[in-house]
Amino acid sequence: MKELNAAPTGNAKLVAWVKEWATLCEPDALYWCDGSKAEYDRLSEEMVACGLAIRLNPAKRPNCLLFRSDPSDVARVENRTFIASVKQEDAGPTNNWIDPVELKKTMTELYRGCMHGRTMYVIPFSMGPVGSHIAKIGVEITDSAYVVLNMHIMTRVGTKVLAALGNGEFVPCMHSVGKPLAPGESDNGIWPCAPLDKKYIAQFPETREIWSYGSGYGGNALLGKKCLALRIASVQARDEGWMAEHMLILKLTNPQGEVKYVTGAFPSACGKTNLAMLIPTLKGWKVETVGDDISWMKFDDEGQLRAINPEAGFFGVAPGTSMKSNPNAMLSCAKDTIFTNVALTEDGDVWWEGIGYDAPGKLIDWKGNEWDAKTATEKAAHPNARFTARAYNCPCIADEWEDPKGVPISAFLFGGRRPSTLPLVYQSKNWEHGVFIGATVGSEVTAATLDVKVGTVRRDPFAMLPFCGYHMGDYFGHWLEIGRRGAAQGKLPKIFCVNWFRKSAEGKFMWPGFGDNSRVLAWIFARCSGKGEFKDTAIGIMPTEAAIDRTGIENEVSEADLAELLKVDVAGWKRELEMIKEHFAKFGDRLPAELKKQLADLEARLN
Ligand code: OXD
Ligand code: MN
Repeated sequence: MKELNAAPTGNAKLVAWVKEWATLCEPDALYWCDGSKAEYDRLSEEMVACGLAIRLNPAKRPNCLLFRSDPSDVARVENRTFIASVKQEDAGPTNNWIDPVELKKTMTELYRGCMHGRTMYVIPFSMGPVGSHIAKIGVEITDSAYVVLNMHIMTRVGTKVLAALGNGEFVPCMHSVGKPLAPGESDNGIWPCAPLDKKYIAQFPETREIWSYGSGYGGNALLGKKCLALRIASVQARDEGWMAEHMLILKLTNPQGEVKYVTGAFPSACGKTNLAMLIPTLKGWKVETVGDDISWMKFDDEGQLRAINPEAGFFGVAPGTSMKSNPNAMLSCAKDTIFTNVALTEDGDVWWEGIGYDAPGKLIDWKGNEWDAKTATEKAAHPNARFTARAYNCPCIADEWEDPKGVPISAFLFGGRRPSTLPLVYQSKNWEHGVFIGATVGSEVTAATLDVKVGTVRRDPFAMLPFCGYHMGDYFGHWLEIGRRGAAQGKLPKIFCVNWFRKSAEGKFMWPGFGDNSRVLAWIFARCSGKGEFKDTAIGIMPTEAAIDRTGIENEVSEADLAELLKVDVAGWKRELEMIKEHFAKFGDRLPAELKKQLADLEARLN
């Protein structure tokens, strides 16, 4: 093995850990990443030269690359993701589990010699501003330059991180694409990965380790994101008294210049990035972005919960993103961006379904085939095609997005896609009721092709279903514990449920959504200041109709529509209660008594 540079750290544990993996994986070369622009540029060129990346037209998309993954490696693989806790019951009913000893044995054999013909990269990275007391340091070993390039954008990488680490603790993150090369063999421009049954995304919660094998895509391979910042961090947060949540963070400024910070948890495909970057239609209001996916929160010395965005970039879904749906995301990926699985235009730009204009001529689709709108039978971009864009290129990034202290949080939002029953917005009656709302959120199943009855709600508690590193019942308990701590200090954020997706009996969306969601945010802002007209109802605290400003959308949302959006649908809620009972039954005796009481209280209030 050729050592391309000397270990730039005296951290003996780190050096020994890297050596151990190099011995097992047998790479041709070993390289410690410094996080520099020169390193990014060099690896980009190498990827272009070997045919794995295409440089986009610099006149259209400066400093941008396009990658096409293998069709078998296009998304997170939840059925190959494991929480390998020592005891199965600690992983809980919502996670896949394999005994950690057995899993390590299986994976060790997969890792043996898996880096033949490849370079092993060592990426020291910080989740959160380097040196922030809320941040954590990880080190990822990988044999994928694509991963290195993405980690440069999504996290803070390199020498400055090692300086902050010193001899301290790091989360070890091991990754291989699982495609060793024979002597003289090269990837030949084909995305390397292993077959599905050889892919493993493993978290070991007790030892805080991550082992990933066989996939090069997104959350399977960029181990700082879902694996560390959610699955492992949720376990650390439980043990250390803080919160690691699948939440956007936004800064909301009212026309008087007052500011509040709000976080929000929504299952995938509910417009989290759009909400984090929305342009208010309500005059005088401003939304700026602190984060679009993950929030780490700790109480400060005054008892205020403060949040940081542990990431430094956006790994956003491209299809559906347009200058209409999310101009700030479009501008974020105008330069310095890595695109994966979008289509390529003849003039070297990108295109995807829902970009807001027709394909400009013939394209090369995400599989590398010619694509013509007139004859196409398949989509040009994969539905999970992504842009990896730098947060600092986002026009609405908040000034304090890298504040190491974090931003003070006033409200938590929960929501999902609920065509029926759930109103546009309501506030929880208290913290425990808020935890009940978070524990029961989900999205309604609409596609009849799924093996579930239409109208069924897929519950995604706290939008953490694929990301909670331990028993979900205990996780609910942790939220209750945070509430007890916060209440003692008197400064808990308020909790709200929002639903942008209500449909009329004719199947039409009743609320315009996007920038008009600012009208709901304005009421939430008011409630956080102890203002905002409200009525106390069986399901929670709701705005009066006059409390939602309809100026400018009177034609789209009539008074009657708004009344419908803010109505308590008692019959619907009674059906909802039965579904919640089924959902809660999964957690057995680990379901906190407080949540059983919330359910009983809601039932009593509805009767
Ligand atoms: C994501 C997800 O990619 O939640 O952020 O799936
Ligand atoms: Mn996410």
